[in-house]
Amino acid sequence: MRIIVCDNYDEMSRLAAEFVKSQIIMKPNCVLGLATGSTPVGMYKTLAEIKLDFSGVTSFNLDDYYPIERANPQGYFYFMKEHFYSKVNIKGENTFIPNSEAKDANAECEKYEKTITEKGGIDLQILGIGQNGHIAFNEPGDELTADTHVVDLAENTIDANSRFFDNRSQVPTQALTMGVATIMKARKIVILASGAGKAAAVKSLLKNKVNTQVPATMLCMHPDVTLICDKEVMGK
Ligand code: PGA
Repeated sequence: MRIIVCDNYDEMSRLAAEFVKSQIIMKPNCVLGLATGSTPVGMYKTLAEIKLDFSGVTSFNLDDYYPIERANPQGYFYFMKEHFYSKVNIKGENTFIPNSEAKDANAECEKYEKTITEKGGIDLQILGIGQNGHIAFNEPGDELTADTHVVDLAENTIDANSRFFDNRSQVPTQALTMGVATIMKARKIVILASGAGKAAAVKSLLKNKVNTQVPATMLCMHPDVTLICDKEVMGK
């Protein structure tokens, strides 16, 4: 795993945007895997500012709450529209997020996994990491699920994400998420982490041992992962 420690959040965000830029220069019709949450906001801002050509790019998001209306500002469809889709020239028909309004959640997950494969798989996956070590909504447990699936959110994920909602009871208790194998199939992975709250999870990741209680540790088995973090994550 390549590790890049940046001075601060802004530098981390700029560097993450540079990885996306290089990917698009190398392959203008690439498939990006994208993340939501507070961590990648700066990266999206930079991507909009540097005016890249996204007209040939396809994107798949990692996850969304389930169920949640797509018009809900806390849902990930709304997030992506606000921070990315409305700011760059990516084509609407080339953007994919698990449908948080689907009637049949399992069928939606199956379809999502199939669509990723049909589009040729993910070239570059951008990831955040949860305080509990989750990647996407693959939560700590004795088992991890391979493919896109419906998941019950961990109590500490609901706690962590309640900061975005008026109160904790509004946080959906389930999500649709890419599985660990869906993520591991990406050709290249960039994982971003910022702030002391992520220090413990990143420390586990750097042990180079797989532990399903810290799902991000799966990444040590992937051949092309870059961790871009700020100094605080490293306790500096
Ligand atoms: P955050 O979430 O970027 O809001 O910290 C990361 C995650 O839970 O994967």
